[in-house]
Amino acid sequence: MTDQNDIWNQLIRHREGQGDTRIETLFAQDPARAQGFATSALGMVLDWSKTTIDAGARDLLLQLAAPVAARRAAMFAGERINETEGRAVLHTALRSPDGRVEVDGRDIMAGVRDTLAHMRDFATRLRDGRFTGQGGRITDVVNIGIGGSDLGPAMAVRALAPRHDGPRVHFVSNVDGADIADVLKPLDPETTLVIVASKTFTTIETMTNAVTARRWMAEKVRTPAAQFAALSSAQGRTAQWGIDADRVFGFEDWVGGRYSVWGPIGLSLMIAIGADRFDEFLAGGAAMDAHFQSAPVAENLPVLLALIGIWHHQICGYATRAVLPYDNRLARLPAYLQQLEMESNGKRVAMDGSDLTRPSGPVVWGEPGTNGQHAFYQLIHQGTAVVPCEFILAAKGHEPHLAHHHLLLVANCLAQSEALMRGRSLDQARALMAEKGLTGDELERQARHRVFPGNRPSTTLLISELTPRTLGQIVALYEHRVFAEGVILGINSFDQWGVELGKELALQVAPLLEGKDVPGHDPSTNRLAGLVRELRGG
Ligand code: F6P
Repeated sequence: MTDQNDIWNQLIRHREGQGDTRIETLFAQDPARAQGFATSALGMVLDWSKTTIDAGARDLLLQLAAPVAARRAAMFAGERINETEGRAVLHTALRSPDGRVEVDGRDIMAGVRDTLAHMRDFATRLRDGRFTGQGGRITDVVNIGIGGSDLGPAMAVRALAPRHDGPRVHFVSNVDGADIADVLKPLDPETTLVIVASKTFTTIETMTNAVTARRWMAEKVRTPAAQFAALSSAQGRTAQWGIDADRVFGFEDWVGGRYSVWGPIGLSLMIAIGADRFDEFLAGGAAMDAHFQSAPVAENLPVLLALIGIWHHQICGYATRAVLPYDNRLARLPAYLQQLEMESNGKRVAMDGSDLTRPSGPVVWGEPGTNGQHAFYQLIHQGTAVVPCEFILAAKGHEPHLAHHHLLLVANCLAQSEALMRGRSLDQARALMAEKGLTGDELERQARHRVFPGNRPSTTLLISELTPRTLGQIVALYEHRVFAEGVILGINSFDQWGVELGKELALQVAPLLEGKDVPGHDPSTNRLAGLVRELRGG
């Protein structure tokens, strides 16, 4: 077997050997490139032909994926692949309730099915008015959670807005009181259900918001706990809150926070769209699981996405990647993917604790098109940094009476990837300026501002329509992409030690702000805390 290091080195040499070869040249050399460098599965098409990956690079990248298969098998078999926390990684079990998975010889699926049935029963009773608040039918649901206990359901609830037929669903995540104040302001405590979503039930932001929500509800409601539900692995703590076990939905430690939308953390989504559509969302995720496990590497969407990311970040050295959904309802997808990708693969040591010898995951960012076009696309087209762009596009919109909007949306998306690749040469820019009547030095000066270097890579993920099922496919696609990338980089994608230090220090900074003398803080932090006290008036 070829040594992985050797393949990395070959890839680096291959990239160097490409010199200034343009993507357009690759198209000219290979008339079938648009088909050959596009992969279809589950009704989705991933077009990666507008990248600098050529046949040689593709072959090497596919070899780089060799370690994925064994690790993937270990994950689906329930082995404790999250080695730094000693946990199995089985969020996939949540979306295959009919499957059979064991952890340490114990079947976990009966529990998965029971919890799903419990969620279905509660969501259905709430939606049809059998579960009520003190003031009658529940009109509003507030999910209080942060990170993985917020981003997944918040993203999915927004994405599937056309399927909403339940109570209104709102999200509070930030410890900034502005967040909860704005959300609760228009709501009636007597007809509101508060869901406290926290795997650990200790997260300071969530518990602070939950206390505030309980106080708000207590102003009008005799037994606020009766209008609270909890989504958590810490059932002892939910009981201390007085939340009836009937409204507590638990999950086990083999579901990581950022992978948890498929189970109880998705309750707000189930309430918004109904249990049957939630099942479709799960089925979409399960279909992607089956694809990931069975498709050959060269046709495996998650593996290919991982390899494309590695080509851009680790081989070409592009520091960031932009996720650009041309779907306004996917507005929270970039934020969701930021946690998924950066909390998973933003690491500095390998699984065995040794320093990584290659960069870990890139910065991920983005906004929906077309809004981003009028903001940061300037830099993407003409800035000095190359930003690989990942476009996501649905062929059909949800507003048949606004089909002309959708046509323009799609046209813009396709135009952007074409413009990024083609660019505009100096000669073309000169011709434009000449047409405008400019001559001499002024023509030259103005032309240079209008040059687009082009050759900027992008991929396009095309789906037919954003539905619960296709959303499930997309989310699972990215989850497995992150996993495959992590395996190739030798990273544990399932822990998140990097968030702990700041959390600990925040607890030690809080007393400083109350004017207490806390030794051990640095001079800048002491001074800033003092200034805050002064500006607050003591
Ligand atoms: O910020 C770290 C983190 O542990 C995330 O991984 C997680 O999604 C989030 O906090 C929320 O945690 P919890 O669900 O326990 O409140």
